[in-house]
Amino acid sequence: MRRFFPLLAGIVIALVTGVVRWKWEVISNSNLYRPPVLHEVPEIAETIQHIHNSRHLMVSAFKDHRRQGAIRIISILRRSALKKLYCVLCVQANANARTEADEAHSQCESKEAVVEIHRDHFGFPYGTSDIMCNSPSSFKPTHVAISMDPIITVENLKYLPIQNQKTKDSFKYNFTVCISNLFGEYNNALQFVQTMEVYKLIGIQRVVIYNTSSGPDLEKALKYYSKDGMLEVVPWPIDKFLKPSHGWNSKRSPGDLQYYGQLVTLNECIYRHMYQSQYLLLNDIDEIIMPYKHASLGDLMDTLQKRHPRSGVFTVENAIFPITQFNKSGRFSLREWRNVPGTNILEYVYRREPEQKGAIKHTKMIINPRFVQQTSVHSVLKHFGPTVKVSFDVCHLIHVKIPGNGTLYKNQLHEDKRLWEFEEKLIPNINRALHESGLLL
Ligand SMILES: *[C@@H]1O[C@H](CO)[C@@H](O)[C@H](O)[C@H]1NC(C)=O
Ligand SMILES: *[C@@H]1O[C@H](CO)[C@@H](O)[C@H](O)[C@H]1NC(C)=O
Ligand SMILES: *[C@@H]1O[C@H](CO)[C@@H](O)[C@H](O)[C@H]1NC(C)=O
Ligand SMILES: *[C@@H]1O[C@H](CO)[C@@H](O)[C@H](O)[C@H]1NC(C)=O
Repeated sequence: MRRFFPLLAGIVIALVTGVVRWKWEVISNSNLYRPPVLHEVPEIAETIQHIHNSRHLMVSAFKDHRRQGAIRIISILRRSALKKLYCVLCVQANANARTEADEAHSQCESKEAVVEIHRDHFGFPYGTSDIMCNSPSSFKPTHVAISMDPIITVENLKYLPIQNQKTKDSFKYNFTVCISNLFGEYNNALQFVQTMEVYKLIGIQRVVIYNTSSGPDLEKALKYYSKDGMLEVVPWPIDKFLKPSHGWNSKRSPGDLQYYGQLVTLNECIYRHMYQSQYLLLNDIDEIIMPYKHASLGDLMDTLQKRHPRSGVFTVENAIFPITQFNKSGRFSLREWRNVPGTNILEYVYRREPEQKGAIKHTKMIINPRFVQQTSVHSVLKHFGPTVKVSFDVCHLIHVKIPGNGTLYKNQLHEDKRLWEFEEKLIPNINRALHESGLLL
């Protein structure tokens, strides 16, 4: 009998706890209760999580000082299954001091959320969204959860820490590149290393990549630049949650979400670096936003901002350097690079002419993140201040790639050897990076 005593005691305790909980719910349903208290928030390791009891996904939460301190939760919502959502905003309790006074400062409150689905969802079932939670200025929440239920229960919800609690006006980095996502077996290691070294020489200090998967050689380069401190790799396991599309056209590339969630990551990157970087460059992994009249991006932006002091969005035109045409002199066909998988961008010095006036121009952007609320790939969706179109001869992209539309002949192309001007520093820097990352064996 004595042996069963602990077991019996356990059952009694469990029963009592259950009754107390049930009572609590009855009380809370009648709304005559003290707000619940959030004591512990588990650390979150994942960048993507389900919203409790739903097929919606949430990524991260930020205070938006431009919108009266509203809390913005970057999320991926299933557009057809939209019901009311509620924000559970909490000030996390101090785990050690559980006095009444502490608890009064550590309560949760629930508010109906305002959902803003970005308009560029391309018809896919899921779309990049902002869940906005207004909170009174006297209440300074540290964590937020999304609930389908207006009655607050703090348990079982998944909380996100609220980032960007304070504004700043000096930044760790001047220029950060946001590279939306890396997926499949992309293994263009040589082009990546060359591009990173060009970035350094034009004044970029930080690169952020959202990583779903990559090829083995590129992985070596990613590890090298992460260790070196220039690269921030954000895990992006979107394929564990949805069937992401490989493109932007929902008929040609069916799936749940446009291009592995490219737009979610670009928007996330803006908020993640809102107070870390003076400027962000939103471009792809195989693109370089290159100043042609200035030695660096710093000089370029000084000039542009003097002329356009109220602007924080600058669009830059694309220029394709097709890999079907190259300079055969072999000047930069270094023997030691031949065994590194990927494109040697220094060999491609012929670019397409800028698009004619009136044609659709595929632009990428340099932005001041504090001027942007929502972005798409080629333009911003919601922002402050006028947009500046940077002229092609001042700055354009260097985009070495397989041309999309038939053969391009030399007489349709223009010689452009801007990259060669960096030769003196660039070649030894590339060699050092290839060597130290283990790609030159
Ligand atoms: C950022 O730009 C400022 C002004 O041009 C410069 O003084 C500073 O050294 C730059 N910061 C870094 C980290 O390069
Ligand atoms: C990128 O993601 C893949 C898949 O999760 C992982 O195996 C790889 O280690 C990641 N790479 C880096 C540099 O974090
Ligand atoms: C390649 O570049 C070199 C050096 O500028 C030039 O002399 C040569 O004519 C170019 N070759 C071709 C095939 O375009
Ligand atoms: C492809 O090339 C043809 C012929 O030069 C041109 O008429 C057409 O507009 C091009 N299409 C695209 C999408 O660039």
